[in-house]
Amino acid sequence: MLPDSFLQELIAKNDIESVVSAYVSLKRRGRNLVGLCPFHGEKTPSFNLYPETSSFYCFGCGAGGDVITFIRRIENLSYMDAVRLLADRAGMAIPEQDRDDAGAKRRMRILEANREAARLFNKFLYLPGGREGLEYYYSRGYTDAIIRRFGLGYAPQSFDFVRDNLRKKGFHDEELVLAWLCARNKSGNGVHDIFRNRVMIPIIDVRGNVIAFGGRVLDDSKPKYLNSGDTMVFKKTNNLFALNFAKQSKQESLILCEGYMDVIALHQAGFTNAVAALGTSFTAEHARLMSRYSDEAILIFDADAAGKKGAQRAINLLRETGMRIRLVSIPDGKDPDEFIKKNGAERFKLLVERAANDVEYQLMELGSRHLLDTSEGKVNYLREAVQLLAGLTDPLERDVYISRLAHDLSVSKEALQERLKYQLERRKKVQQEKQITQVVQRSEATRKVVNAEAAKHLRAANAEESLLGLLLLNPDYFGKIEPILKTEELVTTFNRTLYEKLLQRYRAGAAVELSVLAEEYDPDEMAYITGMLRDSRERGTTLSVDDAVQYARVIKKEHQLLALKEPSALTPEEIQEKLKLMRDMKS
Ligand code: CTP
Ligand code: MN
Repeated sequence: MLPDSFLQELIAKNDIESVVSAYVSLKRRGRNLVGLCPFHGEKTPSFNLYPETSSFYCFGCGAGGDVITFIRRIENLSYMDAVRLLADRAGMAIPEQDRDDAGAKRRMRILEANREAARLFNKFLYLPGGREGLEYYYSRGYTDAIIRRFGLGYAPQSFDFVRDNLRKKGFHDEELVLAWLCARNKSGNGVHDIFRNRVMIPIIDVRGNVIAFGGRVLDDSKPKYLNSGDTMVFKKTNNLFALNFAKQSKQESLILCEGYMDVIALHQAGFTNAVAALGTSFTAEHARLMSRYSDEAILIFDADAAGKKGAQRAINLLRETGMRIRLVSIPDGKDPDEFIKKNGAERFKLLVERAANDVEYQLMELGSRHLLDTSEGKVNYLREAVQLLAGLTDPLERDVYISRLAHDLSVSKEALQERLKYQLERRKKVQQEKQITQVVQRSEATRKVVNAEAAKHLRAANAEESLLGLLLLNPDYFGKIEPILKTEELVTTFNRTLYEKLLQRYRAGAAVELSVLAEEYDPDEMAYITGMLRDSRERGTTLSVDDAVQYARVIKKEHQLLALKEPSALTPEEIQEKLKLMRDMKS
């Protein structure tokens, strides 16, 4: 546990507005600030920042919390690592006793096991037993230099190679399982290696940690690739292969391609800014990660249907981050690895230089699906093209393409502009409607995850949330609430525990605020709690301690009603009392 005083200083020195504005471009709106949410794709801002309570809340996706929760989510860090980052930022030292946080220790062991395993696979490549693996890399044209740079290796056909060697280094079986290097035997006794007879590609994060592996078979057997599953140190939707190298590359752009081997071949050919998603489709997290290191993305996808679909998905997600996008299509449906091997790096460089931007690419794609030499085809193409252009946020950009379309297809620019205006209005309406339903759905979804009991006890949960929100904003209300509302009277477990925690803090004279909760509550829970704050705040400043008392009364009533429903051995007097209570409540 970190001391309150430390946390309060941390929060004070990491003013939420300045921390968040490094990730989100914020605009002032009254006392608060708004911006495009970094946690989901959106075009109209629903991300709100409340400097008064040092909190944020997104009405679009329901993300919310304090500054620590924000850093946890956006940097994908554990609580302690987020605190560490903010402490570094503010030039503060973490209090001594918390350095040996159990989770952090465990993660460190997993990273150490991965590093040892990577070293082992790489060393084995140059031993007689690893000859096959080395030959495989050579056959793909890889040099010893690139093998060394990427730390490539080979896992032999053995169930105990990693296990026995890492045991010798002092690793426990449990750690090997957590690292996704070994799996438990079916019998339940002991463990065995997961990666066998595969060339091994370590996946390294931007801090230089080996966080996972990809393993490829040497022949045509299936599955072609085996990738580490998610672990305490690896989430495949949040990491990009070779970003550790690409971020250091002097290039202004990042090249996004589909496979490990493409990335390695590109690096060997001098394109050290190439990255790839890992055995998963491209995600918003990937897009965000890329945008942190570069302004321009160059997409290289296969020319087949699956590749085109992947490209479109990546375009949409990358667009949301504001990155410039260009697309390379490789002739003859080859991947970059094959193309470079056949035609050389210079030819590939030409392809990259001539790459069309995303709008041009999408217009081209669209054009190829219509018969442009018929009137009907032309009309359909133009309709869809204008619809596409309506999705662009920059009016200047829209105008450039409208002009070009008018010119290329010999139609009047005015007609296209009129159509565009119609499309823009429609889009706006659809988006507004979508946002409204989203707000409702998302906060319902968070509630369902965090406080499942709320659905069963709606009235009680609503009152609890309102009350807790008020107490977090005005801890002095406890003065009136404490004597009225006993902890056990709160109906839903989550809220009861929260109330108890806050009350204990109030009694101890400790801080009652969002920031002291982030340690115990995960980001989802923090979002739920911040939602309570937000609700009380939205309803305005007119809510007073009397409102808090009202909420407390509702909770008490709900609690009593609930107790009534439980058939239990009551004395006749008790039954009389309860009946009276029920009559009172009805009136
Ligand atoms: N992939 C995977 N699991 C599979 C197949 C593919 O995780 N069974 C992922 C890998 O990250 C792979 C990428 O999808 O790098 C692209 O797959 P594919 O085009 O089939 O492989 P290549 O990268 O071209 O691999 P190679 O050149 O070795 O055949
Ligand atoms: Mn390939």
